[in-house]
Amino acid sequence: MKSYLVVGGSSGIGKQIAEMLYMEGHRVFATYCRNKKESKDRLSYHYLDVTSDEVDFAFLPARLDGVVYCPGSLRLRPFNRTALADYEADYRLQVVGALKVLQHVVPLMKENGRGSVVLFSSVAAGRGFPFHASVAACKGAIEGLTKALAAELAPVIRVNCVAPSLTNTPLTAGLLNSEEKLRQHSGRHPLQRVGEAQDIAAAAMFLLGDHAGWVTAQTMHVDGGLSAIALP
Ligand SMILES: NC(=O)c1ccc[n+]([C@@H]2O[C@H](COP(=O)([O-])OP(=O)(O)OC[C@H]3O[C@@H](n4cnc5c(N)ncnc54)[C@H](OP(=O)(O)O)[C@@H]3O)[C@@H](O)[C@H]2O)c1
Repeated sequence: MKSYLVVGGSSGIGKQIAEMLYMEGHRVFATYCRNKKESKDRLSYHYLDVTSDEVDFAFLPARLDGVVYCPGSLRLRPFNRTALADYEADYRLQVVGALKVLQHVVPLMKENGRGSVVLFSSVAAGRGFPFHASVAACKGAIEGLTKALAAELAPVIRVNCVAPSLTNTPLTAGLLNSEEKLRQHSGRHPLQRVGEAQDIAAAAMFLLGDHAGWVTAQTMHVDGGLSAIALP
């Protein structure tokens, strides 16, 4: 049995990952921020707001096998109509929050003798979409961080990230709340559908686990083909 931390394990992709790790028999420390979740034996939920100055990691054990960092935001607005304070808030949540968590848990994985980190990028970091300036800037930073940390922490800790395209979670509810929107977004993807939390969680599970033992510093594109295929 291994021990994992899932930051943002109360919703969408993170919730799916926490449940899959639990189903595989692991000890899972998951966090929530606004939506409290009840704990069950090996899957415990703990309050954590990564944007607060004082973050309490006292619930964590002395050793960890892996960590997944899920908090993200999706502010789709014209570049000039986005306030600097909003860019800063997005960066604080998605990048500074990840740094804060990793500074605390990297020593716990070193203590363990090995570890795996999974971060989240987006298809919008590698391909340009209008109105995506904030998320693209944050996720580009995450992809750079993935490579730099993978270099610094090898060979003990592997660091990878997953770059999804539009996936059906509470984060994207407003983009997928009608048949017409769902049809339009599905049609933009070569595989003709949007993602489900399970599609993305499956990639994270691979990267966390031993089958990915020779994989580090990678961005795994799980996006229905959107990043690499031009539709006719
Ligand atoms: N869904 C997509 O289409 C998509 C596409 C590309 C990339 N991604 C990336 O994939 C990751 C997961 O996305 P998702 O769709 O699963 O999002 P989600 O459903 O909104 O879940 C986000 C999780 O982060 C937690 N969280 C939010 N603010 C937090 C804070 N200040 N401190 C600590 N935790 C906080 C939430 O907790 P509470 O709910 O308890 O507040 C929730 O558990 C994100 O990084 C996102 O950018 C998603």
